[in-house]
Amino acid sequence: MLTRSVLCSLALAGIGSAQSLPHIQTGGLVQNTSRYETRLRVDNGTYGPEIEEVHYYYDQWPIGIAVASDGRIFTTYTRGDYDYTLGVVVNETAEEPYPNRALNLPPDQLNTSWHGIPFGVGTKGAFISVQAVYITSQTASRPETLWVLDTGRPTIHNNNGDPSMPYAQPGGPKLIAISLSNNTIYRTYTFPADVHYPDSYLNDLRFDLRSNVSDTSGEGIAYLVDSSNEGRPGFIMVDLGTGESWRRLTQDPSVLRGPEDVPSYQGHPFYLRQKGSPTQWQLEGLDGIQLSPDGKTMYYSPLSTNYLWSVPTANLREHGNALAEIHAHANVSNHGQRGGNANGFEGDSNGLIYQLMPEHNAVYYYDPADGQTHGFVRDPRILWPDGASNGEDGYMYININQLPYQPAWNNGQDLRSYPGAILRLAYQAEAEAYAASTPSNPTASSSTALPSMDMNKFATSFQNFGKTVSSSVSPFAQRSQQWIREQTGNVGEKTELPHDYIELETRIDALKQTHQKLLAATSQYANEAYDYPPNIRESFQDLGKSISEKVNLLSKANSAAEAQAAFTAPPSAKPQPKTFPHAIARASLAGSQSLTMATPQGSTEPDPLAQGLEKFAIAEEKVGEARLEQDEKIQGRFLSGWSTTLNQSLKAADKARTAVTNARLSLDAAKGRAAASGKHEESYTEEQRKAIEQAEDVFVEKVDEATSVMRNVLDTPEPLRNLAELAKAQAEFHQRSGEILDEVAKNISDIQMAQETSYRQAREGQ
Ligand SMILES: *[C@@H]1O[C@H](CO)[C@@H](O)[C@H](O)[C@H]1NC(C)=O
Ligand SMILES: *[C@@H]1O[C@H](CO)[C@@H](O)[C@H](O)[C@H]1NC(C)=O
Ligand SMILES: *[C@@H]1O[C@H](CO)[C@@H](O)[C@H](O)[C@H]1NC(C)=O
Ligand SMILES: *[C@@H]1O[C@H](CO)[C@@H](O)[C@H](O)[C@H]1NC(C)=O
Ligand SMILES: *[C@@H]1O[C@H](CO)[C@@H](O)[C@H](O)[C@H]1NC(C)=O
Ligand SMILES: *[C@@H]1O[C@H](CO)[C@@H](O)[C@H](O)[C@H]1NC(C)=O
Ligand SMILES: *[C@@H]1O[C@H](CO)[C@@H](O)[C@H](O)[C@H]1NC(C)=O
Ligand SMILES: *[C@@H]1O[C@H](CO)[C@@H](O)[C@H](O)[C@H]1NC(C)=O
Ligand SMILES: *[C@@H]1O[C@H](CO)[C@@H](O)[C@H](O)[C@H]1NC(C)=O
Repeated sequence: MLTRSVLCSLALAGIGSAQSLPHIQTGGLVQNTSRYETRLRVDNGTYGPEIEEVHYYYDQWPIGIAVASDGRIFTTYTRGDYDYTLGVVVNETAEEPYPNRALNLPPDQLNTSWHGIPFGVGTKGAFISVQAVYITSQTASRPETLWVLDTGRPTIHNNNGDPSMPYAQPGGPKLIAISLSNNTIYRTYTFPADVHYPDSYLNDLRFDLRSNVSDTSGEGIAYLVDSSNEGRPGFIMVDLGTGESWRRLTQDPSVLRGPEDVPSYQGHPFYLRQKGSPTQWQLEGLDGIQLSPDGKTMYYSPLSTNYLWSVPTANLREHGNALAEIHAHANVSNHGQRGGNANGFEGDSNGLIYQLMPEHNAVYYYDPADGQTHGFVRDPRILWPDGASNGEDGYMYININQLPYQPAWNNGQDLRSYPGAILRLAYQAEAEAYAASTPSNPTASSSTALPSMDMNKFATSFQNFGKTVSSSVSPFAQRSQQWIREQTGNVGEKTELPHDYIELETRIDALKQTHQKLLAATSQYANEAYDYPPNIRESFQDLGKSISEKVNLLSKANSAAEAQAAFTAPPSAKPQPKTFPHAIARASLAGSQSLTMATPQGSTEPDPLAQGLEKFAIAEEKVGEARLEQDEKIQGRFLSGWSTTLNQSLKAADKARTAVTNARLSLDAAKGRAAASGKHEESYTEEQRKAIEQAEDVFVEKVDEATSVMRNVLDTPEPLRNLAELAKAQAEFHQRSGEILDEVAKNISDIQMAQETSYRQAREGQ
């Protein structure tokens, strides 16, 4: 039985306009929700970045995918009687064998038998059944390389015509390196029988080509998945210099299939129904893997559980040490459940671990920063995402192959319907937005207007009482005992605090709450997208250039094609801001452009609505820019001051108050000790009297100090100054927006009146 998987990174796809292509027929498996006439909320099956259809498979169902830096898309097909097993996409509807037909063994040369036991062939020099491909970028010592993982195990049919998978023999299962600059194999790695078992199944691959990774020869390492349905899954590592290979985590609980797993696809519970075998459950173990960006952590998951795991890669590399397996096992981490079975993985520079989710027609991602799995994209067209590859063009490419409908899982009936597909989505734009939103500290970046509060006052106060504190504070243990007595109601008398002091404390508490509350709301000003509606869908290209740049480019366009090119010109630098006014501006300009393009050729009159929309777009962008200026001012002049007050002044007050509490506890402890034997004050010993006096001195001094610190905090005009700055920044923004919008409203009215006049004239002239 064949299966899922694969991944990669890199590439630029020169695939043509996807919008004009026909939609995939899903054979009634997934319906429009528009057929419902209902007042109820309906799950439309969709979220996340827009999906484009970039390629259709009509001849063979694909498994793995890898996208090269020049845009070439490589794809794999595991073998039954397919013509070839490694292909390259040549146009929207066709692929061809890669690097040539000769290297793809013909179907009648895939298997053999030995003493009546079926085996795959042991051919080292050609492809038998390629499951996965992965591309590594060019390095100083290596060309951009397509790594090809051949299982050596085709699907054949036994005497009853039932599908079965022969064992592998050495030579058949292999890792092959093809240079993408000359399309030639430059190295082949095979495995000894104690590393690749006859019932192993090579399923996926990742690479670390840095010369300094531990336990390697310095020419890089491959991490391979053995997903063995027969039950011995684990990792296989290959030293790319010496060719030495070894296993790790074989049959570790984390790589084993889940017991009796029943996933659901398109709402149907799914058992494994193989022709000629009893009904059973999905048997596959370890499947998806992804390396963290620093190469230190390997994330992984079996196909048939909902758990995500990881292990330090150092433990996968460690070998030639009798304890290596024990260490690896002991260092496995469980990251918990993710809400469904996962298939292939991908990754990005933020360290997010994308996971293909066949049960949900979705891609999820695990975020190591919060330890949780999140939804990324969902679409009814994602009918078994089998492999994904993040290209250098900022798109994630996903192979769709309807796998649950294959004959091997449905009593020999093929329920799939061509075409299969490659879908893509702009993952890089999302990754950049994620990176931009993570440093969430509102004050970290603001530099202007440092607080002008006089911190010297506090400093002097602290110096003054520092002297007495060290010499006369009673030991911590005595204070604690006193505190416990008070808490348990076991105390005769508590020294009262002055009324003024208590009043100050109450006011300080109120001030602190005020600061925290307002900061919680206003820190939104540090989040660019605070008014950007979450349901707006904008692509990488939409965010590529500013309105003024686009208008400028459009004005220079001499043909519809040039205008289109100007409009979709690739991003200049960082993505355009995600604010509500910017989004409106982009939507307006896109509308203006569509109307202009739709104007009949040769028409001399520009479309008035298109004109109005263009003016509006420019104005809205200015409003958006004004909003960003406002936000920057608020961060610098309000948020930074506000949080400094909280952190420094209020903390100073807290510290002084704690000193008061401690001094009071010490004083009461001294009093308590003296009174312990029921003595009256008159009969205290000289020593006891002295201890009490000393504690009283400290107490009074601390109350004085705390009082003065709190008064300083309360008296400072700083917060009001900050507040005025907040109001001022907002006022400037509203004023500026008012001016921009007044002007553009007037100009749009003018266009409207001109149009109305010519409309009336046209009718009167009839
Ligand atoms: C699905 O919706 C689209 C757009 O509303 C419509 O054109 C199409 O006919 C619908 N298809 C089905 C199967 O209802
Ligand atoms: C795609 O390539 C195939 C094979 O080369 C060819 O037969 C077919 O006509 C091409 N289709 C298009 C739309 O160019
Ligand atoms: C390959 O497998 C088929 C069954 O699918 C069998 O008929 C054939 O004899 C096998 N070929 C060899 C060389 O063993
Ligand atoms: C192709 O490139 C590889 C790697 O750079 C090199 O080893 C090999 O000799 C080249 N082969 C041909 C036929 O140019
Ligand atoms: C290996 O080198 C890279 C830079 O190429 C460095 O970032 C990394 O920390 C090094 N790793 C080790 C284990 O020395
Ligand atoms: C984790 O692996 C390291 C070797 O890489 C080993 O020294 C350590 O003992 C392992 N941790 C545990 C808990 O065994
Ligand atoms: C489907 O629903 C989601 C969530 O409500 C929404 O964001 C999305 O725009 C909807 N998509 C379609 C095609 O209606
Ligand atoms: C104030 O404290 C918070 C949390 O303790 C911290 O994140 C922030 O950076 C601090 N701000 C300043 C200006 O020190
Ligand atoms: C509005 O019209 C005035 C006068 O024609 C012109 O100077 C100004 O640039 C226009 N403003 C906008 C936003 O189009």
